[in-house]
Amino acid sequence: MEVMKTNINKIISSKEKRKLSMVTVYSFFQAKMAEEAGMDILLVGDSLGNVMLGYENTLPVSIDEMSLAVQAARRGAKKSFIIADMPFLSYQSSISEAVNNAGRFLKDGANAVKIEGGKEVKTIIETLVNYGIPVMGHIGLTPQQINRIGTYKVQGKTEKNKNRLIEEAKVIENSGAFSLVLELVVEEVAMQITEKISIPTIGIGAGRYCDGQVLVWHDLLGINTEFTPKFVKKYANLREVIVKSLEEYISDINEGKFPTDENVFKGELK
Ligand code: KIV
Repeated sequence: MEVMKTNINKIISSKEKRKLSMVTVYSFFQAKMAEEAGMDILLVGDSLGNVMLGYENTLPVSIDEMSLAVQAARRGAKKSFIIADMPFLSYQSSISEAVNNAGRFLKDGANAVKIEGGKEVKTIIETLVNYGIPVMGHIGLTPQQINRIGTYKVQGKTEKNKNRLIEEAKVIENSGAFSLVLELVVEEVAMQITEKISIPTIGIGAGRYCDGQVLVWHDLLGINTEFTPKFVKKYANLREVIVKSLEEYISDINEGKFPTDENVFKGELK
């Protein structure tokens, strides 16, 4: 039995003591590397749809696609705290469906699930938590609502919107969620939410005062360079490294430089 690096109690009690690090992973080696680096939380995000499967947004992502990614992540990171994102329409239609789908992710190896939404997901969160399925909330910009919102815009810019976000954060906390993602939220508003609730906030495009930060793997490592939002810090330019390496491989093959003597097997021909 592997000893977990962290657990839900350590995550909750980290508030005001130290910042939490979270990154998205979708595969065995990504999870292995994130664990090796000492990441606090691994999120199998439904951004899998955009960055791994090439969908236009997160809406088409299925439970089966997420399930494979959660299983692979757990095989790669045996000691890490892994959160599985509940995809669009996997929790809205009925409580029993929400329980079955969230429970499936726990059976796949996740420690918790993440659910987008405010008041409308209150009962779902309460039920999951009662059944022993920890929930991370997610408010601010909620990409599964893109058809209603229209564009990926910063949230909390008006007094009304700010008050709604603060109210939603309190509802999520009172529902029993153990932490809350704030996505694309004005820094001052994210700070106020972080001060007003007792569970850790994890920001993405929500400024410096959240209790932790999360970035998407492909943004952080410079793999998705088609569009880099302002809130992303690119820690590497892996796309360039990978494309250059592949070009070199192609030209080595064409020029007869690969394989070389050291790459071949030799034996006595009978
Ligand atoms: O799916 C995802 O990558 C996410 C993060 C943006 C928090 O939900």
